[in-house]
Amino acid sequence: MDSYELRKLFLDFFAERGHKIIPSSSLLPTDPSVLFTTAGMQQFSLYLSGKKDPIKDFNSRHIATCQKCFRTGDIEEIGDDTHHTFFEMLGNWSIGQDETGYFKEDAIKYALEFLVNKLGLDKKKIHVTVFKGEGSIARDEEAINIWLKYGIPLERIKECSKKDNFWGPVSDTGPCGPCSEIHYDRGEELGCGRPDCGPNCEYCKRVVEIWNLVFMQYFKNDSGEYELLSQKNIDTGIGFERLLSLLNQKSAAYETDLFADFISKLEEISGHKYLENKKAFRIIADHIRSSVFVISDGVEPSNVGQGYVLRRLLRRVIRYGKTLELDQQFYLPLVDIIINKYKDIYLNVFTRQESIIDAIKKEEYKFEATLEKGLSIIEKILLTKKELTGEEVFDLYQSYGFPLELTQEIAEEKGININIDEFNSALEKHQSISRAGAEKKFGGVGKDAGEEGAKLHTATHLLHAALRKILGEHVQQMGSDINTERLRFDFKHAQKMTPEEIKQVEDLINLKIKEDLEVKKEEMNLDEALKSGAIAFFKEKYPDQVYVWTIFNPDSKEVFSKEICAGPHVEKTSQLKLFKIIKEESSSAGVRRIKAVIN
Ligand code: ALA
Repeated sequence: MDSYELRKLFLDFFAERGHKIIPSSSLLPTDPSVLFTTAGMQQFSLYLSGKKDPIKDFNSRHIATCQKCFRTGDIEEIGDDTHHTFFEMLGNWSIGQDETGYFKEDAIKYALEFLVNKLGLDKKKIHVTVFKGEGSIARDEEAINIWLKYGIPLERIKECSKKDNFWGPVSDTGPCGPCSEIHYDRGEELGCGRPDCGPNCEYCKRVVEIWNLVFMQYFKNDSGEYELLSQKNIDTGIGFERLLSLLNQKSAAYETDLFADFISKLEEISGHKYLENKKAFRIIADHIRSSVFVISDGVEPSNVGQGYVLRRLLRRVIRYGKTLELDQQFYLPLVDIIINKYKDIYLNVFTRQESIIDAIKKEEYKFEATLEKGLSIIEKILLTKKELTGEEVFDLYQSYGFPLELTQEIAEEKGININIDEFNSALEKHQSISRAGAEKKFGGVGKDAGEEGAKLHTATHLLHAALRKILGEHVQQMGSDINTERLRFDFKHAQKMTPEEIKQVEDLINLKIKEDLEVKKEEMNLDEALKSGAIAFFKEKYPDQVYVWTIFNPDSKEVFSKEICAGPHVEKTSQLKLFKIIKEESSSAGVRRIKAVIN
């Protein structure tokens, strides 16, 4: 069975049972406390907590999806059989209950029906785990009885603690609950032979988890307590790659149709065999696939948050490419293969293909410039000693763009020590002198950017508004970055700006600085903010409660700019003095980049 069939079988199965099929949400969640979408339930979080009504929005309380997910915790594990950074999750939900809502029994019944009747898995090889009770939350006897009723004998029902059988929340607070996992025995020959071998065995992967059924009845609140939700929900998740591998008797998804073309292309261009270079092949395959998806959802490599994760992935691809003696841009045909494989399922990998290729090329270019130099510096240091000091690691990070994790990895390969504490204090020292560093640490919204930062943030809003007035409303912010010296602003616009246009933009901004407009901050909920006409180009990324910054003339009340932003800003535009554009260049296809200063 190939990947297309499996997705379709799952979604059709639940559609036939009254579930509404909802498209995958973006890999970038709306909840700002979480970096990426790590589970299928995230887009339904407010429904699961009872704050929104699924009937109103989906016309159904039964839902099924195939969701794009990304887990950063697994980056170090990539190369083994089962971990992926990007993966897909199949899931079904019943949200809240009236006469139509279902809970434990139907969730279990559906799961068995799908696995055994639809996919033809052997029921005798199915093991399950249930929550054995811990703290204030009781043992799940109800689930045990349901499994027994549906023919899973007691010897294949294992009771586990909270560590294995309680799911969620995805961040500090949110919906969660005890769960019951379905595992499958792949055969004695893959086992450790211990008498207690089974689900969650520490010694082998004979029995693998394929489906997690969460009985979501709790909400973990700010004080860390589990409140009973006013409604009961079912939230389930199948690791798609895991199930696909199992159905094809493969131990890893790299050996299924998902990666077949990719692996053979990589063998062809490298002249190496997958079987002899599994780790490098798998890292390249995993990371190229996740980079394609992360970029397609709007991330660009950077030194903060999601962008930093992407940078790490791409720099690892390039480095592992070198271990296979691959030339620059070796990834181009491989990126194409991933785009082709997924374009019918997730259209934006296709529509964004130019940006994807462009972002990867640029990152390679940046990294190449310093990679060789950085590596030779490491070699040189290691000629005389067997460790890298924190300062040396920091220098590699600062001057050669080596993410800490990359240096750690190289150090591990060479069997040498590095001093992380010393690295962290060097980083902190640097950050306290450089506001740019502070921005990185605090997530790039300039929470600690000081007065210069506030001026540049306000200048960014003035620039955005001026560009829209001079060039047209098609101008949209695509990214921005501020350091101590300058602001950088990326925006949608097809042509190079003429010198006249640049001058008009500068003049308009300087006029507004002279007019001494007031800068006002208001807190409101996102819907209100959008209704009030505030500009928001990253809608999917904002929290429910946002700040709106308005720059207006206090006498005439005329508004020049109104944007959603976390700030900080100055109070009056006259604090800015002179605004000057120092560079206008292309950033990627259809996107221009301006660098500007204020004096
Ligand atoms: N939310 C559950 C999981 O991700 C189903 O495992």
